[in-house]
Amino acid sequence: MTAGIPFTVAGQTVVVTGGAGGIGAALARRFVADGAGSVILADVDATRVARAAAEIGAPAEGILLDVSDQSAIAALIDDIELAHGPIALWCGNAGIVGAEGIGSPADWELCWSVNVLPHVAVARALMPRMAQRGSGQVLITASAAGLLTSLDSAAYSATKHAAVALAEWLAIEYADTGVGVSCLCPQAVNTTMIAGNENIRSLGTVLEPDDVALGVSRSLAEGTFLILPHPEVADFERTRARDRNHWLEGMIRLRRRGRYSPSTTAQPIQHR
Ligand SMILES: NC(=O)c1ccc[n+]([C@@H]2O[C@H](COP(=O)([O-])OP(=O)(O)OC[C@H]3O[C@@H](n4cnc5c(N)ncnc54)[C@H](O)[C@@H]3O)[C@@H](O)[C@H]2O)c1
Repeated sequence: MTAGIPFTVAGQTVVVTGGAGGIGAALARRFVADGAGSVILADVDATRVARAAAEIGAPAEGILLDVSDQSAIAALIDDIELAHGPIALWCGNAGIVGAEGIGSPADWELCWSVNVLPHVAVARALMPRMAQRGSGQVLITASAAGLLTSLDSAAYSATKHAAVALAEWLAIEYADTGVGVSCLCPQAVNTTMIAGNENIRSLGTVLEPDDVALGVSRSLAEGTFLILPHPEVADFERTRARDRNHWLEGMIRLRRRGRYSPSTTAQPIQHR
């Protein structure tokens, strides 16, 4: 029994969702450089993912996938395993920020369906097969917002917390099967997701996606569960755990300094 299983991609079949750009494309580039046998980039943006795969070159391949469609995930797993053999590494990396503030019911549904439920679909459709094979690795891209919080979007913060919780649950559940689980929790990374977001850019170092991907490759090889490209996130987590009120006070000060939408502006109560 071990909490982390060292994993390398050499010769293996790998899938990266949200692979059309940003962290996903960088992961795919890294895995090709590390000698993966097949690297499938899956994304809802068919044009960009085809371009990203072409730029990376063989053995990368771009494919259309909307991760909010759980049956499409299961079907893609079948198709890939038929064409390329067993999937050794699934990177659930596609993500969306959602609306600022508390958001609408539709915003919440979308965030759940992209940031959390695809990982459940993979846990249903792929992880039991990996367990039968006695090997495999699932990487869930959550966020530092899933360990701490996000000041912009309530739905992003809550769903990324859920993604971390699910990754932990899966790591425990699959501990005795030979299947490893890792959870990537970066703070700011220089991708279109945070373009123009001065609040997140001002939090600290903005890392390049390729540096994050290199760190992921090394962490997978070491069997690390929680992958923190920004090491200070571990300190913030410790501070938060030590005294939650003190930590919240710090976050409240941060919010006052930033440019956030006035989501706390109350709607007048309608008296009947
Ligand atoms: N950039 C950051 O600062 C940062 C920080 C922490 C966590 N993250 C997380 O990293 C992951 C990658 O984000 P990124 O920064 O590379 O942003 P990005 O916007 O460049 O990449 C996200 C990708 O996901 C794809 N996508 C969105 N909805 C999809 C769907 N329904 N089905 C399939 N693909 C879909 C997009 O088309 C895009 O290519 C996300 O999960 C994000 O939450 C990013």
